Amino acid sequence: MGNHSLLQLIKVNKVFCRGTIDEVTALDQINLDVSIGDFITVIGSNGAGKTTLLNIIAGVYPPERGGRIIVNGRNIANLSEHRHAQYIGRVYQDPRTGTAAKMTIAENLSLAIMRGQSRGINTAITKQRKQLFREALVPLGLELEDRLTALVGTLSGGQRQALSLVMATMSKPSLLLLDEHTATLDPKTARIVLDLTEMIISREKMTAIMVTHNMELALRYGNRLLMMHKGRIIVDLNQDQRRNLTVSNLVDAFEKASGEQFADDSVLLSSVDPATKQKN
Ligand SMILES: Nc1ncnc2c1ncn2[C@@H]1O[C@H](COP(=O)(O)OP(=O)(O)O)[C@@H](O)[C@H]1O
Ligand SMILES: [Mg+2]
Repeated sequence: MGNHSLLQLIKVNKVFCRGTIDEVTALDQINLDVSIGDFITVIGSNGAGKTTLLNIIAGVYPPERGGRIIVNGRNIANLSEHRHAQYIGRVYQDPRTGTAAKMTIAENLSLAIMRGQSRGINTAITKQRKQLFREALVPLGLELEDRLTALVGTLSGGQRQALSLVMATMSKPSLLLLDEHTATLDPKTARIVLDLTEMIISREKMTAIMVTHNMELALRYGNRLLMMHKGRIIVDLNQDQRRNLTVSNLVDAFEKASGEQFADDSVLLSSVDPATKQKN
């Protein structure tokens, strides 16, 4: 991949509850340059600012005054979430967030096609669309292509996240944001959804940022790894620097960069696939 920049964050800050006793600096002077084709994994303890980072990129709320979000040379920091949606696909932690339970698989996919387009929503399921949906679902290997008229609420969590993934990538967004999207799944299903994620990202040559609660996963997937702590990016490893690292190397890197003990055991202990669990 070339080093062409897709997205740049410059001096991005986010403060919640400013001026109250609950004031928290969720993002603290974030500078980040995402290159086209990057698949970035992001790790950090609870409250580190990972979700806030994705929300800022997705335009859920703007950064504090002065922070810039540059896409294609243009500062989009103050554009609405809807305008950001034209170049962003997103999958959330909760399978219920990305899909509509009371609509069928086909209807959900129709909505996904229309996403980011400003014209009136046309969810008519034409023959041509059905074919398109089948083609998108077959590679999942979950046989959802035979269940186009099933209500999404009847799917399992894993099937629903796989569908969310297809929906998020259907309109070929420039950037895919994944926020602990396998955290609620059992280890085996999580592994399947993660492998699907990797397959879609590489097939569509997408740029992606994937937040995970698991260091092993952060090392296994992607080509670049960020570690966040107290609203800052404290470790940023490229492909060469990541190669051959173990979870315990990462813990060392965290402790060196933060000057603190790594306290969040769940990040170390939760394993996606016990059979291949890395020995520390
Ligand atoms: N909408 C909000 N209102 C107030 N505080 C928030 C809000 N969103 C996040 N925070 C706070 O900002 C910090 C970072 O949160 P978050 O980005 O969700 O962390 P992470 O995803 O890394 O666990 C936390 O202290 C959290 O409590
Ligand atoms: Mg979060």
